[in-house]
Amino acid sequence: MVWIGSVLLSALVMLVAYIAPAAEIAITSDSPPGFLLLWTRYSAHLAFVFLLLAFSASTLKAVVNKPQTRGLVRYRRQLGLGFASAHTFHLVALILFLSNLEGYSVDASVAVAGFGYVVTALLAMTSNDYSVRQLGPSKWKQLHTVGISILMLYFLVAFSGRLLTSYSPIYAVYVALIATAIIAKLRVKRRVMTPATD
Ligand code: HEM
Repeated sequence: MVWIGSVLLSALVMLVAYIAPAAEIAITSDSPPGFLLLWTRYSAHLAFVFLLLAFSASTLKAVVNKPQTRGLVRYRRQLGLGFASAHTFHLVALILFLSNLEGYSVDASVAVAGFGYVVTALLAMTSNDYSVRQLGPSKWKQLHTVGISILMLYFLVAFSGRLLTSYSPIYAVYVALIATAIIAKLRVKRRVMTPATD
């Protein structure tokens, strides 16, 4: 089960975030980052990998029709659920981090970011055959296409913001991956919708 793998990887990520900071750094520290902030960051990275694979599965199969890409499509729903579980770890980590952060107060940005969790929950709750039957395949596909695209945009905004503030190359890689995945998906869609003329 892919999502069980996601839970195990999330536990590993938590362990890495725990071990990574020097012993004298408090677990609640935001500068330098302590365990809770690193866990918040790393858990978002892991969730992103699952989301990117779920988002790109059908595009990759359309571009390279190999057993591996067909496997990705077959396990797409599991990858989505893997994203939901990994992203739940981000939620737990950020609640613990922010509730221990001196001077933190809830503002409008929490509602915007929180909406991402509403979308995640909606997709996770409808990732089953029963929901496909209830909604009908076309509405179900619409819901999941829109939902997963919104979540990709959230990551695009979050990683672009981090790129602008930290200049770390990993964020440039993430932004490039998201842009490539979106452009490739749109191209494949256009190719499917445009009938061949010869
Ligand atoms: C769909 C919803 C969300 C997505 C896609 C998301 C994604 C991300 C990403 C990509 C990062 C950056 C990791 C890094 O810096 O390396 C991050 C960090 C963080 N997120 Fe989220 N997040 C979401 C919801 C939330 C919510 C609701 C909150 C609470 C207010 C939140 C609080 C944080 C915090 C505190 C950090 C660490 C920021 C820092 O590095 O200083 N996130 N998130």
